[in-house]
Amino acid sequence: ATAQIGVTGLAVMGRNLARNLARNGFTVALHNRSPERTRSLVAEHGDEGTFVPTESLADFVAALERPRAVIIMVKAGGPTDAVIDELVPLLEEGDIIIDCGNAHFADTRRREEALRTKGLHFVGTGVSGGEEGALWGPSIMPGGSAESYRKLGPIFEKIAAQVDGEPCCQHVGPDGAGHFVKMVHNGIEYADMQLIAEAYDLLRAGLGATPSELAEIFREWNSGELESFLIEITADVLAHTDAATGEAFVDVVQDRAEQKGTGRWTVQIALDLGIPITGIAEATFARSLSGHVDQREAAVRAFPDSGEKWQVADREAFIEDVRRALLASKIVAYAQGFDQIRAGSAEYDWGIDLGGTATIWRGGCIIRARFLDRIKQAYDEQPDLPTLLVAPWFADTVRDGVPSWRRVVAESARVGVPAPAFASSLAYFDALRAQRLPAALIQGLRDNFGAHTYRRVDRDGSFHTLWATPDRAETPA
Ligand code: 6PG
Repeated sequence: ATAQIGVTGLAVMGRNLARNLARNGFTVALHNRSPERTRSLVAEHGDEGTFVPTESLADFVAALERPRAVIIMVKAGGPTDAVIDELVPLLEEGDIIIDCGNAHFADTRRREEALRTKGLHFVGTGVSGGEEGALWGPSIMPGGSAESYRKLGPIFEKIAAQVDGEPCCQHVGPDGAGHFVKMVHNGIEYADMQLIAEAYDLLRAGLGATPSELAEIFREWNSGELESFLIEITADVLAHTDAATGEAFVDVVQDRAEQKGTGRWTVQIALDLGIPITGIAEATFARSLSGHVDQREAAVRAFPDSGEKWQVADREAFIEDVRRALLASKIVAYAQGFDQIRAGSAEYDWGIDLGGTATIWRGGCIIRARFLDRIKQAYDEQPDLPTLLVAPWFADTVRDGVPSWRRVVAESARVGVPAPAFASSLAYFDALRAQRLPAALIQGLRDNFGAHTYRRVDRDGSFHTLWATPDRAETPA
């Protein structure tokens, strides 16, 4: 046995992770259900490091040093369970199975528990950064036992993206913590992308500019506070011309956003945890709305555009308004995502370090952004921060952005350009900072129709008003 780690499942992500491991000096055992993939990987990239190609799972397991570390990179759900079932009888106490796919954290918890009773470690690991990230340095979010991390840490930290000499990998917490954090990463990814898309749409409507002109605006934004991978590739996509038609690429793509489900999971779990991740939810619903073609067509027929053009008087001021609105809304999305991680960590007793999470996301992942440094700083300085919105830099930035944010949301509503994530983020901010919310009336209504009781501002305890009696006496409940 010579290999320090093995990868089974050599589609593009598994293949690239294996190459990254080998390039970084680790001997990597390879396995794939159909051996052609293993052979082509060795034929095309065998010179990048030391690979031990195998054609059966038994040979694959035999090639690994103990404790064995096996990365499985197959489809989430049934296929993952199938590979685990095949592997388990071949492994010995203390061996580690690492699931680097986008698994649901509840599945990861179930698998971890089942394998723990067999003396094996199961490490659900979030990996972000797409194909290029996997090859050159992803962001890695490992869950599982602290003991498994003693073996995996040095390997993962070496192949992860590095920012300021720090790896974008830390042990997130036990059992499903890594996949939970990856799930929320994807929820934030949905919000970030929806906000960028709304900014583009507003700029396009307001300025009447072409996509390639808009690409320049995003390129410029990428040299400021908004600097991030997603803004960078937005400029790239907007500047791209379709070879077949000569049209802007963004104009030949169908306007229906798809999803594989991680954003939806984030929202479902947020509902269970009672965490209002409104921006992420709005972004997820915006994707599903875009796919309801029949309803959209019917509404287009029923409510034709007035044809009125949006006249922006001061172009530079408008661009700056959209930039500030985008930044403020983005802060809301991250604040909500970190709230959800805190809540998940409390619910499952994971002890997740929020500053550490920001560290992992500084590089390699899809939502990598300059301001993750500031998030790290904010949570390092105050781990019990009630919300990221009130950390000094974020509070100042939002405060400075509020007039722009209001103008953009108000204008978008006036002219009828939908900006659901901008509007929802602003409403979230206003709700948080409201002295009094109309929730008091909701409590009154609940008590009126269902005797659901309410609490008073001036006395402890629960109360019920006898609504049906003439004197409407109040009773302690
Ligand atoms: C990443 C991404 C990745 C995800 C895609 C597609 O971090 O590298 O989050 O894991 O699968 O972004 O997600 P949707 O198909 O749901 O948009």
